[in-house]
Amino acid sequence: MEKHFFSLSLHHGAATECMTLGILEHRGLVELGTDFLSLDELGIYNNFKVDSRRSEFLAGRYIAKEAVRQERPDLFPKSINIVHGVWGFPLIHTPGLHRATVSIGHTQRCAAAIFYSSNTLPVGVDVEEIKESNLQAFKRFISNTEQELIASGQLPSLETMHLIWSAKEAAGKALKVGFTIPENLYAISSIKCEEGFYLISFENLSMLKVIGWVDGDFSICIASPSTWKFGKIKERARA
Ligand SMILES: CC(C)(COP(=O)(O)OP(=O)(O)OC[C@H]1O[C@@H](n2cnc3c(N)ncnc32)[C@H](O)[C@@H]1OP(=O)(O)O)[C@@H](O)C(=O)NCCC(=O)NCCS
Repeated sequence: MEKHFFSLSLHHGAATECMTLGILEHRGLVELGTDFLSLDELGIYNNFKVDSRRSEFLAGRYIAKEAVRQERPDLFPKSINIVHGVWGFPLIHTPGLHRATVSIGHTQRCAAAIFYSSNTLPVGVDVEEIKESNLQAFKRFISNTEQELIASGQLPSLETMHLIWSAKEAAGKALKVGFTIPENLYAISSIKCEEGFYLISFENLSMLKVIGWVDGDFSICIASPSTWKFGKIKERARA
């Protein structure tokens, strides 16, 4: 397993908000044990019947707690309690972190989490493993404009399809409603490349934007308010 942590900053005029992004890459079913889970989390875990869902849940909780501990190393993992709100969004129910925001994404081989010690800005993270077998599912949701963006060839179409899908999931997480609202509300209007990062805008959601990038076999997307500009994304630790 390999974990990486990045510092993210968002700027609006003179205001800056800082967040931590954690990424955990692993080889499949994770063997992390359950000792680091809170009692509430253990309850959620025990309700999952499928091993792969249990594994993704563990990986997501693990990297989310480690992202918290980058900023709050005094906290034991078990004391950080991340529960589900209605529609499944993650909420931190931990003394001292009552205003904090967490967002989680996971695939079979990777988990990502953002920790933000405030709740001023909605943020959402998504990670996707780039593989041909995802294409059939993604193609069903591609609009004509998105098809043109894919054809414009900034990136190979496989990568662009994953970024498009991941951007929609990240936006759904930032809004906390996911795909409880019609999928076409997440239609993408533009993708611009800047220094290896892709800035993605939506036709109907002008209040949000996404920054995305491809890292090896994975696409990573972060949704945040469009009026806030991302600063440099800096790697802060790798283990
Ligand atoms: C948000 C959504 C698009 C994510 O899709 P996904 O395939 O589960 O995506 P990922 O595997 O990358 O991410 C899963 C994580 O997203 C987070 N998440 C789930 N629903 C979320 C929501 N509505 N808003 C924000 N984050 C959400 C959770 O932390 C989840 O991980 P966990 O369950 O292990 O804590 C999808 O779950 C969705 O549309 N959810 C809302 C409706 C729904 O089906 N709810 C079911 C529970 S009531």
